[in-house]
Amino acid sequence: MDYITGIGRTKFGKLQESLPELMALAIREALLDSSLQPQDIQAAYITNFVGDSLVDQLHLGALLSSLLKTNIPATRIESACASGGVGVLQARMALEQFDPVLVIGAEKMSTSSSPAVAKRLGTAGCALIDQEVGLIFPANYALMAQEHMREYGTTSHDLALIALKNHTNARLNPLAHFYHKDVDLEMIEDSPTVCSPLRLFDCSPISDGAVAVILSREQKHSHDPHFLASTMATDSLSIVERRDLTTFRAATIASKKAYHQAECTAADIDFAQVHDCFTIAELVAMEDLGFADAGRAAEYVRDNRFALSGDKPVNTDGGLKADGHPIGASGVAQIYETVLQLRGQAEKRQLDCARIGLTHNIGGAGGTCAIHILEGA
Ligand code: COA
Repeated sequence: MDYITGIGRTKFGKLQESLPELMALAIREALLDSSLQPQDIQAAYITNFVGDSLVDQLHLGALLSSLLKTNIPATRIESACASGGVGVLQARMALEQFDPVLVIGAEKMSTSSSPAVAKRLGTAGCALIDQEVGLIFPANYALMAQEHMREYGTTSHDLALIALKNHTNARLNPLAHFYHKDVDLEMIEDSPTVCSPLRLFDCSPISDGAVAVILSREQKHSHDPHFLASTMATDSLSIVERRDLTTFRAATIASKKAYHQAECTAADIDFAQVHDCFTIAELVAMEDLGFADAGRAAEYVRDNRFALSGDKPVNTDGGLKADGHPIGASGVAQIYETVLQLRGQAEKRQLDCARIGLTHNIGGAGGTCAIHILEGA
């Protein structure tokens, strides 16, 4: 079996630290947590999306080697916002040859203006189709929201309830971007429109942050959780090439494979961290993962079923929406929160029943999806 034997992360938000400083902080904590020295790590992956364009730094594998002061194989993984989830999948594959393996997800974004960041993030879409017509992230997800509303009668109020849940969870997570922000429904529904029907509070923020996890074939501590499944699927780069904008085909394929690998069904998942880069993305994830039938997730949202007190808690740390979205780190942060919950260390947001957790990490507008299922010790 493959275990997670160490985790570490920084706070998310607009931070003072540089990209290497953020990486060093998260790595140090994960090594401590795993009772390992840097030289014990046999291979490493850095997951990052916009290091080149926002902080002029590439060759991140070598940067990672500098930080660890070792000469091990170290590689950058880039799959847009799914970089972290894909990096953890690659790390599991590397365990065939190397043990232990470190994954560090890191992004430094706040030094650039929001329009500059939006343009760089837009490179996750097709240069010849999406970028040509200004189809950047909020526009892609706004089209999905419009389509979901037209097809299933989903409302802006349903999306606001998702934002409220995730901001409420983030108030219990001291490392979250919006830990200090009190948010109510009125504030969400009165916030300015970014791209209709999505408002400010329907969007994830622009965050800095880093998260590290250490994988091993050996269980080091009695609380170490193990993987039941790790899968990935891809789809067309542009949503223009999709037939149905109310679902992500990559997510339905990856989740079916994950349930098959884990020999379980959606009903067996106790809690999940899903890719809510926009509130509509969380709603679609609920349906793609089989937590609700197509078009029914909004009913579950209204019934609070995905809240901490619900029967299927989702985004217990506040999600990308309110914990924050340092792009390359987000998929690793989902694993971090899942491990905390499975170890019973999530403090004020600890779930009563946290035995099997799922992570769902989307790249771009559904061009990539990585899914992991973890079981507690
Ligand atoms: N949700 C809630 N509040 C937010 C927010 C968000 N996503 N983004 C910023 N804010 C708040 C800030 O905290 C600040 O509040 P304050 O005045 O109380 O301090 C205020 O809004 C202004 O912040 P600022 O950073 O100037 O916002 P902005 O207008 O430049 O950027 C967005 C807002 C929504 C455009 C930007 O966050 C964005 O582009 N998000 C999407 C990022 C993205 O596409 N990620 C990839 C998705 S896959």
